[in-house]
This record gives sequence, C-alpha cells and structure tokens, in this order.
Amino acid sequence: MKRIGMLTSGGDCQALNATMRGVVKGLYNTFDEVEVYGFLEGYKGLIYGNYKKLSADDFSGILTKGGTILGSSRTPFKQIDEPTPEGYNKVEKMKETYKKLKLDCLVVLGGNGSQKTANRLSEEGLNVIGCPKTIDNDIWGTDMTFGFQSAVDIATNAIDCIHTTAASHNRVFIVEVMGHKVGWITLHAGIASGADIILIPEIPYDIKKVAKALEKRTKAGKGFSILAVAEGAISKEVAELPKKERKAAIAAAAEKYPSVAYEVADKIKEFCGMDIRVTVPGHTQRGGSPVPYDRVISSRFGAKAAELIKEKDFGKLVVMKNNEVDAIPLSETAGKLKYVSPDDKIIAEAKTLGISFGD
Ligand code: F6P
Repeated sequence: MKRIGMLTSGGDCQALNATMRGVVKGLYNTFDEVEVYGFLEGYKGLIYGNYKKLSADDFSGILTKGGTILGSSRTPFKQIDEPTPEGYNKVEKMKETYKKLKLDCLVVLGGNGSQKTANRLSEEGLNVIGCPKTIDNDIWGTDMTFGFQSAVDIATNAIDCIHTTAASHNRVFIVEVMGHKVGWITLHAGIASGADIILIPEIPYDIKKVAKALEKRTKAGKGFSILAVAEGAISKEVAELPKKERKAAIAAAAEKYPSVAYEVADKIKEFCGMDIRVTVPGHTQRGGSPVPYDRVISSRFGAKAAELIKEKDFGKLVVMKNNEVDAIPLSETAGKLKYVSPDDKIIAEAKTLGISFGD
C-alpha cells in the first residue's frame, strides 16, 4: 500500500488539475494499492490537518478543468518559521500531519516559494516530490512550467483583440501582462501578437526610447501602436537607484497609479503628448482551461512524479529540459529565479523584427 499526499500551493494556474490527474493515473498504474490524500488550500491544509481522502473518481474529467480541486493559498516561505496565529510551529505541524497519515510521499504542485518550502520539508526528513507550476515560467532548472503556455495564450488573445480596435481608431494601447519579477509571459505574448514595444522587468526602459519608437511608427504612417508591458516593468532611472530608494520609488508609484501600465501611459503622455489607453487582463491570465501543450506537459510531469515515487527518488523537482522530462534536486532550484536575460537570443531576434524594448 502506498499512501501519497498532494497539495497545490501559491497562485493557481490552468493545469493544476491536469497535473494531479497525471500523478494519480501514474500511481494507479504503477502500484496495486494506493491511497491519495489531498490537502486543502495548499500548505495550510498540511499545517492544520485539513485533507480529503480522494478516489479515482475525483480525478476523472478534470484534465480540462481550470483552477484546483484542492484549493490553493500562499504560505510565504520567509514566514515559514513564524508561528501561526494560534501559535503553532508550521514546520512541526506539517511533519506531524505527514507522520499521522503515514505518508510515503508528499507531492507539491507549486511555484518558487512553494518549492522552497518543499525543499525545507525534504531537509526535515519527509519524502517530497515537486511539480513545477506557474504561469510565470520562472522556476530555475526547468525550461517550462505548466500554466505558462495557457497564460501566454490568454494574454496573446487579449492583445489580438486590442490590435483590431487600435487599428480601427488609430490609437495607442498598452496591454499590461502578468509578471512582477520576470517578463516571460509578456515577451512571448508580445511577440505572438505583434506588439511594437515590449517592456519587461529584466530590461529597464528609458521613456525617451519608448517615445522615439512610437514616433518612428507615426512617421512611417502607422496610425496605431501596441505596447505589451509587464506588471513589473521598471524605468532605467528607478532600476539604477540603491535598493531602499528603489523600493520607495516603486511604492510611491503604486500609491499614484492603479498599476504600472498607467504609469507608463502617463509618462508617455507627459513626454510626447500622446493619449494612451490601457487594458489589464489581470487574473483572466490564470483562468480557464489549459491549452493542449499544458495538458501534455502536465500529464508527462505527473507520470514522472509517479516514476520517482516508484524509484523512491525523493527530494526532487520534476523538470523539462530540451523537451525531455527529468528531475533535479529540490535543493538545486530552491531560492533561484529563472529570469529573461537581455542576452537571450529571443531578445536579439525580437529586436531584428523591429520590436523595441525601450532600452
Ligand atoms: O505568480 C503568479 C502570478 O500570477 C504573477 O504573475 C502575478 O504577479 C501574481 O501571481 C498575482 O498574485 P495574486 O493572485 O496574489 O494577486
């Protein structure tokens, strides 16, 4: 008998259910007898012992279903050693629940912070396997996370819709795309939708260069322009400030504007008088059904997780490397982010296509 616990932690995404289904199908086809325990609302369920014993039926028909049948929540890693409001030691409570249920392994579907906690639990002696979830595609050590392609699809669709109305009315639009620290979704959705300017956190922008790119289009007779702007886009002048002052400048802008896109719109208007409209698809980027690509990789990740459990190869994160599913130690990925590098070939290619990054 194998007793497996599973949880979904952090911001949700489209292929959480598809991945859980993959893991469970893999387990049922690998072991004669399996019991699956699903912890509710992420690590919270493990801390407070809130779980559901799940059967094969629970995983039937969920391949295409967005969200997570277990619910999710954020349990920030930096607060992991702070007691709960009731005074519980979080790590000890999680270990207690794991041991009480006599689990053979805990499968964690989560992003960077969640995998840091998974690594901590692994260091504490629990058998843990991580599956790389996030629309942001910023987990170090994997080429691809599940959720990313679905989010790119939605963001692309949003920019496509803006494109047609922008062209009809000869307007300049900013579409703000998710990604506070990394610009992968903005970069891919921007290229996929033919955006003229792409602003991402990793390449701080100079507003003069952004305005210049817009003016160049006007001079070339283009009546409209599209900017894909990541929610964490940052100007050169702010990026170059010392950490404390940079944080203060970002906080001051957050007080003044609803989000970064409005700040960029305001700066462009101030600089060259252009009137800019802003669209923010926001959390729609995390919703709905996973695209087929995500269904495929999440099923493959699930199968790999089952294989690792069979091999008793714990303390690993399932990853995708050069189109092959593999696994790396959780300790290797914990605490690192996969950023877009300004030197990545895709940036040079986008520039060759005439896309401006405002740098
Ligand atoms: O980490 C995924 C993500 O969707 C980010 O792209 C976004 O900045 C953030 O979560 C939004 O978080 P919340 O759902 O807590 O507002």
